[in-house]
Amino acid sequence: MSEITVHAPATVANLVCGFDVLGLCLSEPFDTMRVRLINEKKVVIAPGGSFGLPVDPALNTAGAPLIAMLEEIDDEIGFEVNIVKNIKPGSGIGSSAASAAGAVVAANKLLNNKFDRQDLVRFGMFGEKVASGVKHADNIAPCIYGGVTLIRSIFPLDIVSIPSPDLHVALVHPQIEVRTSDAREILRKEVLLKDAIRQWGNIAGLVAGFMKNDYALIGRSLEDFIIEPVRSMLIPGFDEVKRRCKEAGALGGGISGSGPSIFMLCSERKTANAVETEMRSIYDRMGLPYHTYVTAVNADGVRVLGS
Ligand code: HSE
Repeated sequence: MSEITVHAPATVANLVCGFDVLGLCLSEPFDTMRVRLINEKKVVIAPGGSFGLPVDPALNTAGAPLIAMLEEIDDEIGFEVNIVKNIKPGSGIGSSAASAAGAVVAANKLLNNKFDRQDLVRFGMFGEKVASGVKHADNIAPCIYGGVTLIRSIFPLDIVSIPSPDLHVALVHPQIEVRTSDAREILRKEVLLKDAIRQWGNIAGLVAGFMKNDYALIGRSLEDFIIEPVRSMLIPGFDEVKRRCKEAGALGGGISGSGPSIFMLCSERKTANAVETEMRSIYDRMGLPYHTYVTAVNADGVRVLGS
C-alpha cells in the first residue's frame, strides 16, 4: 500500500468546564486527506489546499506532526499530503487537529501501524504547537480515539476514553475568526480557589454523568466559571444563544474549543434540530453570517477509507 485516504473529523475541545482536558469527536464536518509514501525523507504538502494554508511542512499543522514522526523512523521514506479542508481554520471545532490527526493516522496505516494511538497523539500535538503556540491534546485525542476523551496529562501523555450515552450536537459557527493563540492570551493566569472548586466539581460531574448515562447530571455540569466569562465576550450573541438553546431543550453547552463556534449537547436528534432553529433565528436577526451543524458524537475518530 503506498497511498491512503482518511476522513478527519471536527472535535469539540474543553466541553465547557474541562479546559485543555476534555474533548469529544463529531461525526461532521470532516476533512478528506490523502497521504502517499515517497522515497525521500521529507514531507511535501501538495499546493492548492483550501484556506491558503502554508505549504511549508514545518508551518503546516499536518506537516509538523509528520516531520516529528519521520524523526523516529530509520527508513529513507517520506510523505506527500493532499488536504481537502471542510473545517475552517479558526472556527473552534478542531480544524488544526483534524489536519494533524488525519495525517498521522494515514501515515501510520502506511507504516503498518508501527506506532500506537498515544504516539499518534504525541506527534499530532506538534500541529497544535504550530497552530496555537502550545501543545494541547483535547482536540487531537478525541479525533484519533473517537468519542469523549479525558486528557489527564500531556507530559507524560495519559489519555482516558470516557464512555457516554447517545449524544446529539447542535453547533453554530458565526463567521468570524478567533485565533486560538489570541483566545488563550486573554485568559487570566490565576484562578481563585472558590472558582477552582466549582470547576473541578463540574468536571467530575460531567465525567460521572457520561459514565452513568445521566443526562441531567451532564446538563448541570456544563458550567464554566473561569474561561467562558472571558472568551464569551469575543462571540456576538453568546448569552442569548445559550439561554434560548437551553429553553429549546438542550442539556447545556457553551464555547466550542476556543470559539467562536457554540455547541449544545442534546439527548435526542429532534431536540438538536429545534436547538439549531434557535441558533439560526438569533444570527439571522443579527445579520451575522453563520453555519450550523446537527451531528452526533463519533465513536470512531479518524476514518480510514482505504488506498
Ligand atoms: N483547549 C484549547 C483552548 C482548545 O481552549 O484553547 C483549542 O481548540
